[in-house]
Amino acid sequence: MKNILVTGGAGFIGSNFVIHMLDKYADYNIVVYDKLTYAGNLDNLLGVQNNPRYSFVRGDICDAQMVKDTCQEHDIDTIVNFAAETHVDRSIMDPDAFVKTSVYGTYVLLEATRELGLERFHQISTDEVYGHIPAGYSSKEGDPLEPRSPYAASKASADLMVNAYFVTYGLPVTITRGSNNIGPYQYPEKVVPLFATNAIDEEPLPVYGDGRQMREYQYVVDHCEAIDVVLHKGVLGEAYNIGTGEEMENMTMVEILLDAMQMPRDLIRHVADRPGHDRRYSLNIGKIKALGWQPRHTAEEAIIKTVHWYKDNEWWWRKIKSGEFKAYYQAQYGERLADAE
Ligand code: NAD
Ligand code: DAU
Repeated sequence: MKNILVTGGAGFIGSNFVIHMLDKYADYNIVVYDKLTYAGNLDNLLGVQNNPRYSFVRGDICDAQMVKDTCQEHDIDTIVNFAAETHVDRSIMDPDAFVKTSVYGTYVLLEATRELGLERFHQISTDEVYGHIPAGYSSKEGDPLEPRSPYAASKASADLMVNAYFVTYGLPVTITRGSNNIGPYQYPEKVVPLFATNAIDEEPLPVYGDGRQMREYQYVVDHCEAIDVVLHKGVLGEAYNIGTGEEMENMTMVEILLDAMQMPRDLIRHVADRPGHDRRYSLNIGKIKALGWQPRHTAEEAIIKTVHWYKDNEWWWRKIKSGEFKAYYQAQYGERLADAE
């Protein structure tokens, strides 16, 4: 592994991964290949833009010719695929781009890997592919995929295609399935950056339903370190869960967040729930731990660290929240907040 194509590398987790890999491996070259959708942001990569081992190509993973040309031009041996439409609420409003990017786009990358004989294809997946998980159980990698939102279904479809290429063509693939990431550079549509930035502006925090849904909030750098471990020590054809083993109700997350910001609990508004909202995700992380990885942050530490980053980096999120975001926020929350108690 020497020349890595990081698709979706201008997004939240992708950019944190690029920073981590350039910092850790002095002999790796990274090419970020990204369409720069509303979620892609070159501000995330300002810290590495002058690094001679980093370059950026604007492109769509659905564009087969451009993917292949980029791989050949940069002598790529490994693809790590972060590119996806990633917000569950947007997938409920308009699933089209989710299917195009995650299903067709992942197929295009797999074909490029096959045709060019690349060393490795790694797919970034999610705990949402397992669907809602009843209390008392944690998903294992071999469990059936039972996605319930258009987003989760698009990601599960990609996982199935990756596995098919392993079985059928012997493609050197691995998959990681992460839980809810939080940390620097997360687009403020996702719950923790949305609530942190709303709280800074003393705006209400719209909690869906009773807020008793369970998530594993993990610090993004921990997730990036785990992906690195799987790239170097993972077994081909295998999937690895990456979580914390620590589940938390959304209400607990909100209370930690508000306390860390010294903001009052009366900013909380219970609003109409997300349709088909998965109540609980929980990952068994024994398999990735056996490779020698473990998370370095608790969920509480991750939330507090994230909140401080948003407090200290208004330059990054204020311009986002004043653009396309406003129309999205009105469509998603206007009626809900008007109807809230
Ligand atoms: P993000 O929305 O912040 O970034 C996605 C990036 O992909 C953006 O830079 C966007 O421009 C790019 N992109 C979208 N469509 C593209 C296309 N057709 N061609 C090229 N680039 C395209 O997402 P994120 O939160 O960083 O998630 C990254 C990956 O990790 C996704 O695959 C997601 O499913 C997965 N994941 C996310 C989480 C999480 O909590 N955020 C958890 C587990 C897994
Ligand atoms: O679990 C991994 C997944 O985590 C990733 O695959 C997705 O890409 C990522 O978006 C995230 O999905 P979630 O739907 O879990 O994240 P989100 O931040 O949208 O919501 C987290 C929880 O907070 C969820 O239970 C819904 C709730 N929520 C969310 C928003 C945006 C609210 O209560 N209010 C909100 O306004």
